[in-house]
Amino acid sequence: MSPPRKLHIKSYGCQMNVYDAQRMVDTLAPEGFVETASVGDADLVILNTCHIREKAAEKVYSELGRLRLAREDAARNGRDLNIVVAGCVAQAEGDEIIRRAPVVDVVVGPQSYHNLPRLLARARSEGRAIDTEFPVEDKFAALPPPSRQAIRARGVSAFVTVQEGCDKFCTFCVVPYTRGAEASRPVARILDDARRLADNGVREITLIGQNVNAYHGDGPDGRTWSLGKLLYRLAEIPGIARIRYSTNHPRDVDDELIAAHRDLPALMPFVHLPVQSGSDRILAAMNRKHTADEYRHVIARFREARADIAFSSDFIVGFPGESEEDFKATLALVEQIGYASAYSFKYSPRPGTPAADMREMVAAATMDERLARLQDLIDRQQHAFNRAAIGTTVDVLFERAARNEGQIVGRTAYLQPAHVMASEDIIGEVRPVTLDSLERYSLLGRLATASPRARASASTGA
Ligand code: 5AD
Ligand code: SF4
Repeated sequence: MSPPRKLHIKSYGCQMNVYDAQRMVDTLAPEGFVETASVGDADLVILNTCHIREKAAEKVYSELGRLRLAREDAARNGRDLNIVVAGCVAQAEGDEIIRRAPVVDVVVGPQSYHNLPRLLARARSEGRAIDTEFPVEDKFAALPPPSRQAIRARGVSAFVTVQEGCDKFCTFCVVPYTRGAEASRPVARILDDARRLADNGVREITLIGQNVNAYHGDGPDGRTWSLGKLLYRLAEIPGIARIRYSTNHPRDVDDELIAAHRDLPALMPFVHLPVQSGSDRILAAMNRKHTADEYRHVIARFREARADIAFSSDFIVGFPGESEEDFKATLALVEQIGYASAYSFKYSPRPGTPAADMREMVAAATMDERLARLQDLIDRQQHAFNRAAIGTTVDVLFERAARNEGQIVGRTAYLQPAHVMASEDIIGEVRPVTLDSLERYSLLGRLATASPRARASASTGA
């Protein structure tokens, strides 16, 4: 048998890319590839790229410069190093990559990962290969499932892609062009994936998609299922203690999703609900298809269904035409909602999107200043949220040994890291933890004896 070849994947950007990287590893495992953490001993390097903002896209070309040197090093030692560019930059700029970077052997778009073995073979015989088609078949059906060992090695929390692509066409966003039209996987396949994960020790699944709450998959009953309906069914799978989903569009929140939050203890009360701006004028220019008040109303419906629910969001500052007044409306919305965490970005014009042609650019210094003000507010909210946890007893799903000797780290319902002194036996378990202190973004605590729910019912006598 030939020795295994080594594969190094570097992923940028969103959770979907993290998941796709795992699927590429699974696709190449039957070809004799094993993963390596270092470029130095790799036979194959895959850059899994992100096109969402200019900075992210630029990283590809600087990384390819470094890889050219690594390839020369490998050649001096008599080894081949093959280089693949995957992900959304591959999709959007495939031909340009081929032209600008002779070091690249294969360019493969997100819809074609199942073709990787074929593309590598073609690159060997023809020099280079490119595949950025949007095929009609379900790419997920063509990708091999992860092995049992791979699932176990990846830990207690796993992603499952349930839909891909987006039909919203926000005017700033490349996703509808790089990931294509919105498409949902059939319910039965998702349930199979989830069962397989649960059977191999996974306790938490996060359903992912570019617009996951637009999910509308074929159900086993011949009807179209919503995300809410899917969540009810997933919650019945033995072993799955926690379910999450990301990322969402406010317009696609329906009653069944809200009801799922009311009814399912396994559905974590933490929702990523991007709003981008608090100004109706800017929301309209962004083609978000909702107003700030409609967003507030969606938040209120979630809160009514589950009082302890918390939110995170995405914001863009400096969208073309954004005035100080528009920006203040964003700050006011953040003040009013109160987020557990949030991401904020400076607007970055993306070629081919409608906003890239808008004229009223906001000055760079103004963008910097607005970003700093918004991030300061979000930071203060995040700290307040984390500090409020001190002194409470909450459920933590333990994931792994921490860097500090003897400590095990897990996550609360709100994804806050929580550290306790304990044996590794608790990895994979949900245990109540009394939280004593906060260090930067991590909570420190100790294992408690009774679960928060049991304590609550004991103290109320219910
Ligand atoms: N400029 C800045 N931020 C962007 N995002 C998407 N496109 C752009 C862009 N052109 C942000 C949005 C989105 C998140 C994933 O990235 O906030 O929700
Ligand atoms: Fe992009 Fe808007 Fe679709 Fe989100 S909803 S992926 S921001 S187009």
